[in-house]
Amino acid sequence: MNKQIKELIPQQRVLERIAELGEQISREYAGKSITMLILANGGVFFAVDLIRSMKNVAVYMECIRVSSYKKSCVSSGNPEIFGTLSAEDFKDNHILIVDDIVDTGNTLKRICEQIENFGAASVKVCALLDKPSRRTVDLVPDYRGFEVEDKFIVGYGLDYAEKYRELPFIGYIE
Ligand code: IMP
Ligand code: MG
Repeated sequence: MNKQIKELIPQQRVLERIAELGEQISREYAGKSITMLILANGGVFFAVDLIRSMKNVAVYMECIRVSSYKKSCVSSGNPEIFGTLSAEDFKDNHILIVDDIVDTGNTLKRICEQIENFGAASVKVCALLDKPSRRTVDLVPDYRGFEVEDKFIVGYGLDYAEKYRELPFIGYIE
């Protein structure tokens, strides 16, 4: 059965905010190159628009698939990471990890630790959404689009059991 979706952030506002983030990141990394590590599936939609809004920064893309929900909507707190990361892609490089949302923070914390162990020059986190009320580990995104309340968010890449990623706005399930 389809759920009732309520709009939280309209598409226009999402795109404006991503453009602002792109400008800010471009200023802070001006003249450098970044390796963007994109967490699929959810982070892909955001990452594409973010890259398109960046200027004067060379962006290399890496992608891994991470799943913490397993077709349900309760974070397992133990994200499964598919695909391997190889140290040579990260060593001595500036890494920007891009995801759709920071919830408990477990996923990003684990990935940050791995990348730091590879000897990256710097590791920062950029998330479209931040749900700080749900945090169980010490992780604050360096860049974030919007802070959201503890609602189940869908749209703009975020899914409920693999549905609703295609919605162009950010909504929540009632
Ligand atoms: P964390 O490890 O608990 O921070 O979980 C992060 C991952 O869970 C995100 O990358 C999302 O894929 C997923 N997630 C967390 N909250 C939501 C939500 O409200 N809607 C959809 N997916 C979510
Ligand atoms: Mg995710």
